[in-house]
Amino acid sequence: MLGKFEQHRGLLPLRLDHFQLFTPNVPDAVRFYMDMGFRLSEYMAVDGTDTPVFGFLQRKGNPHDIVFANGTGPRLHHFAFVVPDAAYLLYACDVAGSHGFSDALEHGPGRHGPGHAMFVYLRDPDGHRIELFATHYQVMDIKNEPVRWEAS
Ligand SMILES: [Fe+2]
Repeated sequence: MLGKFEQHRGLLPLRLDHFQLFTPNVPDAVRFYMDMGFRLSEYMAVDGTDTPVFGFLQRKGNPHDIVFANGTGPRLHHFAFVVPDAAYLLYACDVAGSHGFSDALEHGPGRHGPGHAMFVYLRDPDGHRIELFATHYQVMDIKNEPVRWEAS
């Protein structure tokens, strides 16, 4: 869709990028996916420990394809679509609002700490949280250590 400008309309999601899920046991979920070949790009740990309460895992060279967050689960937090750039986040809000979906805007536009991406959260008619985001950095070098965030 990137170069098919004549077909651009709506909120312009270019591709599905990642999922964030809740689980009551983030360390086990992170280990399970790492054992299948996912790499940990970032994690958020309980202050003063290395126990992850968020784990950001990837296979395609960006910060995350799947994210686990501590909480009651298994449960979906959101799925995310890439938009062309950060300006489209405001455009998406305008388009949603002008089509009667202003109540669907949940949070943002803003910038995440982990992944450093500009984003906006919306709800679809079923209540599922959709993230639109301007894609984030690449993490291709296997020598890169996971970025650690303090939970606080
Ligand atoms: Fe996300």
